Amino acid sequence: MQNSGAWRGRVLHFTADPSIAGEQAYQYWEDGLLWVEAGRVKQVGAALDILPNLPPSLSVQHTPDYFIFPGFIDTHIHYPQTEMIAAFGTQLLEWLNTYTFPVESQFKDEAYASEIANFFLKELLRNGTTTALVFGTVHPQSVDAFFKVAQALNLRMIAGKVMMDRHAPAYLTDTPESSYADSKALIERWQGVGRLQYAVTPRFAPTSTPEQLAKAAQLLQEYPGVYLHTHLSENLNEIAWVKELFPNASSYTDVYHQAGLTGKRSVFAHGVHLSSAECECLAQTHSGIAHCPTSNQFLGSGYMDLSQLEHFNIKVGLGTDIGGGTSFSLFRTMASAYEVQQARGRSLDPFKALYLATLGGANVLDLVGKIGNFAVGNEADFILIDPSATPLLKLRSKHCKTLKEQLFVLNTLGDDRCIAATYSMGQLVHQREA
Ligand code: GUN
Ligand code: ZN
Repeated sequence: MQNSGAWRGRVLHFTADPSIAGEQAYQYWEDGLLWVEAGRVKQVGAALDILPNLPPSLSVQHTPDYFIFPGFIDTHIHYPQTEMIAAFGTQLLEWLNTYTFPVESQFKDEAYASEIANFFLKELLRNGTTTALVFGTVHPQSVDAFFKVAQALNLRMIAGKVMMDRHAPAYLTDTPESSYADSKALIERWQGVGRLQYAVTPRFAPTSTPEQLAKAAQLLQEYPGVYLHTHLSENLNEIAWVKELFPNASSYTDVYHQAGLTGKRSVFAHGVHLSSAECECLAQTHSGIAHCPTSNQFLGSGYMDLSQLEHFNIKVGLGTDIGGGTSFSLFRTMASAYEVQQARGRSLDPFKALYLATLGGANVLDLVGKIGNFAVGNEADFILIDPSATPLLKLRSKHCKTLKEQLFVLNTLGDDRCIAATYSMGQLVHQREA
């Protein structure tokens, strides 16, 4: 049968948040086996238990040294910013004007957008990321181009057209009406096609009038399955600006909440400087935060307080935030998350970091039961991880005495070189060059 097979190796996945469930949060089989039938998880467990049940004709790929993880989930990334990663010398608002807006203007051209979408999705797969929540540009054709490439690869991807009707160059702005009509047409065209889903995407509060935010909320009401994706509380100058622009809101979060944009499929990137009242609002509405540590450090935005979000029981995932972020790799992002929490006096547990990159991300995207772990019936998106991919990793891994130590070494030193192969619904979509 197509997209069927078995993969034998060191299988690890999460069934709960390690901050809550501790050791019970994960399952690990040193000699494990993942059985995939027609692109979905048929069974996972100890190899010696499952092997006798397998149909004799089924192929079994045995990589005893490799880990088998669920595919990584990136809960916040901009595909049009791929080519401007590593732009020197500015913080958020100046960075947007100097680098971001001019680059995004090129996505008016659908052929150009297709070229970058193609590169971008290959780069995600090279890094073991199988699902992402993705910003397009203001141009609807940027999203058409992206979804066409994602559809051809049968990937589970969520994306949307930027809505932006002020405080940006004229060549990049829409209007409340045109952004509503363009987003609606894209939803009609793409929502639920294959594994694709749509995110209503106002860029952030400063670049949308209250009228446009109301149009975004109208779309969420008309199409309950779609997402809301935006930025929140990233940079102190940004927050001061939002206060000026929305004097009637009690906080930045309240701008979105009053507009009707919070909810269980609402994902807010950053949340670096949130008050307790904002956290309460996010928790009560089941909204999620995409934590983007490489971006927060690169743009000098600040150090997000993960413990505060946990205290309020807010859903959190990891985001690379390319091109504000500095790497497509969720391993590099975990390393950065560790450094950010160290600066706050907390040592981020490697189990927790891996949870954030897999099941935590699925939770933020309201996709638990579809992706994020190896629950029976889930879509079989998974990666083979080589913990000895470089001479240094090989040497360091040899000295690991526990699973936790090995995972921490991977989190800290790992990158795209560790991704030996990436599978989407049981189909090979990336294989590392020999
Ligand atoms: N806030 C508004 N737009 C952006 C963007 O493109 N990147 C980041 N990091 N923050 C933003
Ligand atoms: Zn962003």
